[in-house]
Amino acid sequence: MAEFKIAVMEGDGIGPEIVAEGLKVLAEIAAKFNHTFNYEKVYVGGCAIDMFDEPLPQSQVDTILKCDALFFGSVGGPKWDNLPQEKKPETGLLGIRKALGAFANLRPAKVFDELVNASTLKPEVVKGIDILVVRELTGGIYFGQPKGVFEENGKKKGLNTMVYYEDEIRRIVKLAFELAMQRRKKLTSVDKANVLDVSQFWRDIVNDVAQDYPDVEYNHLLVDNAAMQLVRDPKKFDVIVTGNIFGDILSDEASMLTGSIGMLASSSVGGKVGMFEPIHGSAPDIVGLGIANPIAQIESAAMMLKYGLKLDKEAETIEKAVDLVLKMGYRTPDIMSDGTKKVNTTQMGDLIAKAVGDVA
Ligand code: IPM
Ligand code: MG
Repeated sequence: MAEFKIAVMEGDGIGPEIVAEGLKVLAEIAAKFNHTFNYEKVYVGGCAIDMFDEPLPQSQVDTILKCDALFFGSVGGPKWDNLPQEKKPETGLLGIRKALGAFANLRPAKVFDELVNASTLKPEVVKGIDILVVRELTGGIYFGQPKGVFEENGKKKGLNTMVYYEDEIRRIVKLAFELAMQRRKKLTSVDKANVLDVSQFWRDIVNDVAQDYPDVEYNHLLVDNAAMQLVRDPKKFDVIVTGNIFGDILSDEASMLTGSIGMLASSSVGGKVGMFEPIHGSAPDIVGLGIANPIAQIESAAMMLKYGLKLDKEAETIEKAVDLVLKMGYRTPDIMSDGTKKVNTTQMGDLIAKAVGDVA
């Protein structure tokens, strides 16, 4: 039995709807395993702009830094799209990642056997996929300087810069090799070394770090080739390590192999406090309809228990509960197929919470 303080950021769009389901499941875990989860509500992104006129108020960062983990919904929406870059909700998201020092974004893409038919790819291509995308999260072109829109000799230009320091590459690559050791011991590093100097630098460092992990079979892929291989034969991937922007793109692609982006969670770790969130966005098109799939948020709760609070058994219990409910045939509309039972957001949350009781 233990006591934890968890910062909860519901956020924008469907965030509040699905975070509520995550908390429902966590309450069940707390009851079963005799833990106490104390929650601190925090605001980042659009909701923070509405309340404080900025996407990441320092007061919110301070509160989060005093917690054991950050359980995060989603940010953004059309309402804030026309604000200047530094005021956009997404700037709050990047800011909190940076403020926490969460340099490693773990994005597992695993196909649930029950959902092989929900993928747009053929079942024989996707069955058994189990990929972990390890995305560098606090460097690269997302943060590099200089950036902005400038005027040069009477001509305007837009500019971002892809920067990686050696230590930033080493720490993420090392972590990826460590994770590969706990899995199937295969690692693919993705870059654009045929064009970008920063990518060749990345590749050289991967080769160096690899010396310490002789048991891991590793290779390099150019990002365009990796994008292609991921749909051609996704099963051959185990751990993929890559920089911020390539990881952003490839993790969306990997998620869709599994049928729905609404199923996948992520952890952003390596810093003072870990952050756990679905990989999907705020889905403004379905807000308030009660049809959002809460499973990614619930799986984020499982990742928070595992990587943030070191409660492995509890995390496994949530994963088993999700499996069980899918096996029983319950589906939100995004993952429906013939012969399954359609449920809404809260019903899915209720079913999984109840299943926690049954499998624990
Ligand atoms: C993600 C999202 C974010 C990113 C956006 C919302 C800033 O796409 O977490 O993948 O690009 O990192
Ligand atoms: Mg993304």
